[in-house]
Amino acid sequence: MRKIPEAVLITAGTKRLGFHLARATLSMGFSVILHFRSSDRHARNWLQRNPRFNGKVFFIRHDLADAPETVIKKSLELPCTLTGLVNNASSFSPGNLTDPGHLRHMFDIHLFVPAHLGAFFHKHVKSGWIINITDAAIGSLNTTWQNYRMSKLFLEELTRQQAVLFAPGCRVNALAPGAILPAAGSSRAAFNALADKIPLRKTGSPASLADAYCFLVKNTCCTGQTIAVDGGWHLVT
Ligand SMILES: NC(=O)c1ccc[n+]([C@@H]2O[C@H](COP(=O)([O-])OP(=O)(O)OC[C@H]3O[C@@H](n4cnc5c(N)ncnc54)[C@H](OP(=O)(O)O)[C@@H]3O)[C@@H](O)[C@H]2O)c1
Repeated sequence: MRKIPEAVLITAGTKRLGFHLARATLSMGFSVILHFRSSDRHARNWLQRNPRFNGKVFFIRHDLADAPETVIKKSLELPCTLTGLVNNASSFSPGNLTDPGHLRHMFDIHLFVPAHLGAFFHKHVKSGWIINITDAAIGSLNTTWQNYRMSKLFLEELTRQQAVLFAPGCRVNALAPGAILPAAGSSRAAFNALADKIPLRKTGSPASLADAYCFLVKNTCCTGQTIAVDGGWHLVT
């Protein structure tokens, strides 16, 4: 009898870091379900150049601001067995507590969406794992990025809380990238200059993040952990 492939749902998985994690997921033998909001072009172009992955990559378009559980429901209808969830979708914009609307937006995408997807995943999948993507540079006070930082700190706490609640069937961990890719609209030069502030004097690479990701996927004894992949940036921010 033909084995049904295990699949991993990655939110915002069709480009940038989400897509690097998708490729790492495929390299471990899983199928991937790539959720996206605006464009799947990058991933589809890659798939055309790598036809050996045909049938192992699924796409779901959805705005997570509206009924996030839809992406889990659609994943469960695909010809694969959902086994992993990566909460990667994010909104990176400045804003502080003087702007409650922005605070709500940050908490929606970084806390309530992962909490909502996690609850649905746990209810329907029973046995599997979740990885939440946080951020390494959120430890210190910063009034420019206050709302973003607070929401990602709560995502780290959500990871610990989900790990306790969803055990023993489901492991929940987090990855905290440091400076891995320049944010949209920021220059490569400004990004490279960040290395001066980082203890290991270098920015990270998508490959370094993918390594830590594969560790968390494979290590069946790890739950409730956050691994920073940041050259030690979290120690000084
Ligand atoms: N890049 C880094 O070096 C770095 C550093 C620290 C932490 N991180 C974390 O790593 C993860 C990936 O980073 P990245 O730089 O690759 O991300 P990114 O370029 O900021 O992209 C975020 C993605 O989330 C999607 N998204 C936002 N709101 C959504 C919604 N309501 N519904 C559906 N999709 C939504 C966006 O979709 P659209 O394309 O439609 O806008 C976009 O594809 C994020 O969680 C980020 O916080 C990254």
